[in-house]
Amino acid sequence: MLKLAVLVSGGGTNLQAIMDAIAGGTVTNAEIVTVISNNADAYALERAEKNGIDAVCISPKMYESRDEFNRALLQQLNSYQPDLVVLAGFLVVIPEMMIEEYRNRIINIHPSLIPSFCGKGYYGLKVHEGVLARGVKVTGATVHFVDEGTDTGPIILQKAVEVQQGDTPEVLQRRVMEQAEWLILPKAIDLIANSRVSVVDGHVRIEE
Ligand code: GRF
Repeated sequence: MLKLAVLVSGGGTNLQAIMDAIAGGTVTNAEIVTVISNNADAYALERAEKNGIDAVCISPKMYESRDEFNRALLQQLNSYQPDLVVLAGFLVVIPEMMIEEYRNRIINIHPSLIPSFCGKGYYGLKVHEGVLARGVKVTGATVHFVDEGTDTGPIILQKAVEVQQGDTPEVLQRRVMEQAEWLILPKAIDLIANSRVSVVDGHVRIEE
């Protein structure tokens, strides 16, 4: 059974998709053992509590320094001994020591088709604002392993979504969530939980 730690900062719709997929049986061999948010007001924490999942806020504001926060976050994580860390809309930079300790065991959902509209400054609505400003006709979402870079780790799954005339960033964000994020993040977890994902020469191989 793959033990999941899900890190969140906001509404938690991706967390909800994972919980629903586990409850519905489309994700097997996995259980969420903890949800951690840097934001005490994150509705994601309520979603976890409603599902009987340990939910805790660990915010940089609670610590004297970023280094102390980093250590507290890692300590909290380690106390659950997760097999996989899932960044589901988590907006805090992941400390290097955590990437070291959980090499190829941290995944992230990004709301674009990496390598487009990703990297520093591209998060949340800013991603979709960039997509609309550039006028691309297709966008989507990506699940990737997390390494020391920003949105640079090996890509696991992607799903394309059509940009429609008259889209606003909010409308486009919702379509990307509904048609891509909420599908490929649970799918990636199921593949990992059932040992169908490997990384060879920096590229992800999926066993069909
Ligand atoms: C959304 O912008 C989503 O595209 C990205 O993180 C943000 C929050 O998602 N992955 P959630 O509703 O908290 O899962």
